[in-house]
Amino acid sequence: MEKEVKDNRLYWDGCDTVQLAEKYGTPLFVYSEGELIGRFDELRRDFVEKYENTRVAYAAKAFFPLAMAKLVEDCGMCVDVVSGGELYTAVKAGFPAERIEFNGNNKSREELELAVEYGIGRIIIDSLQELALIEDVCREKGRTMKVLFRITPGVKSSTHDYIVTGKKDSKFGIPLDDDVILPQLKAAIESEYVELYGLHFHVGSQLLDNVSHLQALDILLDLVTKVRDQLGYEMKELNLGGGFGVTYVDEKRPPYSYFLDPMMEKIEGYYSQKGLPRPNVVIEPGRSVAAEAGITLYTVGSIKEIKGVRKYVSVDGGMTDNIRPALYQAEYTGVLANRAQEAANDVVTICGKCCESGDILIRDLSVPKPAAGDVFAIYSTGAYGYSMASNYNKNTIPAVVFVRDGKDRLVVRRQTYDDMIANEII
Ligand code: LLP
Repeated sequence: MEKEVKDNRLYWDGCDTVQLAEKYGTPLFVYSEGELIGRFDELRRDFVEKYENTRVAYAAKAFFPLAMAKLVEDCGMCVDVVSGGELYTAVKAGFPAERIEFNGNNKSREELELAVEYGIGRIIIDSLQELALIEDVCREKGRTMKVLFRITPGVKSSTHDYIVTGKKDSKFGIPLDDDVILPQLKAAIESEYVELYGLHFHVGSQLLDNVSHLQALDILLDLVTKVRDQLGYEMKELNLGGGFGVTYVDEKRPPYSYFLDPMMEKIEGYYSQKGLPRPNVVIEPGRSVAAEAGITLYTVGSIKEIKGVRKYVSVDGGMTDNIRPALYQAEYTGVLANRAQEAANDVVTICGKCCESGDILIRDLSVPKPAAGDVFAIYSTGAYGYSMASNYNKNTIPAVVFVRDGKDRLVVRRQTYDDMIANEII
């Protein structure tokens, strides 16, 4: 997202962020709708329209209030949900059932019932117990379901260990041992309740190189061959997951084509060499759609200088609206939104207000000497910030505003104290 500064203030999609902070209060998530739509346009241009029989299932886990669900739907995308709650949100936003796909390593019977009743497009099977459970639910409801199997490709990715998902020692996916995966696939092929569609992998998240995607794809194609040779079955769909990295501080976000073109080349090469039609190809980007579109606005409060050690600048949010620095040592950058053109003459550590020493948002950032009441903006908080927000210390969940071409609209109201204790019984 282009950073626009006017009259010493940060603007976001044409809106004055200082005015937004005054109007809606802080902490506040602000998303550029233009940027969100722009990412879907890029995906359409560089994937869906470039290659036939492809689709994008936006990974709802990155950011999925109702307004985002509606935007994803309006942009013609599919959605990848991982819980009954995400499924419910998609349904409430009017998402057509056939464009919903369901991932997750421990889907409950209730969640699967909801999925089967609604008649969603795909379920991605992620455990050895799931096929039988889906068949049972389908039998009970008199329905059938299209399924894929998520495999554990056993590749290592260069990202934080907590967001690696494709290595062998992972809770996700079906292990690749022949005596484990082949009987599962055979049972699905023979089942009268499910229709086997294909195979799925997701190697990890915030990846800035394409190495592990390509390695996983080789492994997936080996399995496609094995299933053809041993079970006489041709896969109809390959799902390559998400994981495409973004800019947080000074990393360069690779274009989608950097990941997708070599993967498509490999897939098309494989099928043309076999003289077979290429199956559908699906991707599930989350972060790369939502992260850079969003910023968080905070108000600066207390400032503590420990001479010769560090200057702590506290803001009115923290790990409750952005757990990523505490959980993954994720790095961010930001600016004083009301003093965006002033020279940096101070080095500070931006910390949250939670009762945790680890509640630090940014270390050693150069800024103009901050004062209480300044508005501090952190960039690239659009993915996995709001969606992982918590009520720790009974802080309320911030509001979310969409901005576009100078206009703002509230899409999530700030949680009130009464909302927060609504389910509590005395
Ligand atoms: N598909 C599947 C099956 C996934 O497990 C994930 C992410 C995605 C797609 C989307 O990946 P993305 O394009 O967003 O990288 N909370 C962590 C990220 C966890 C991602 C888990 N799975 C974070 O804040 O970094």
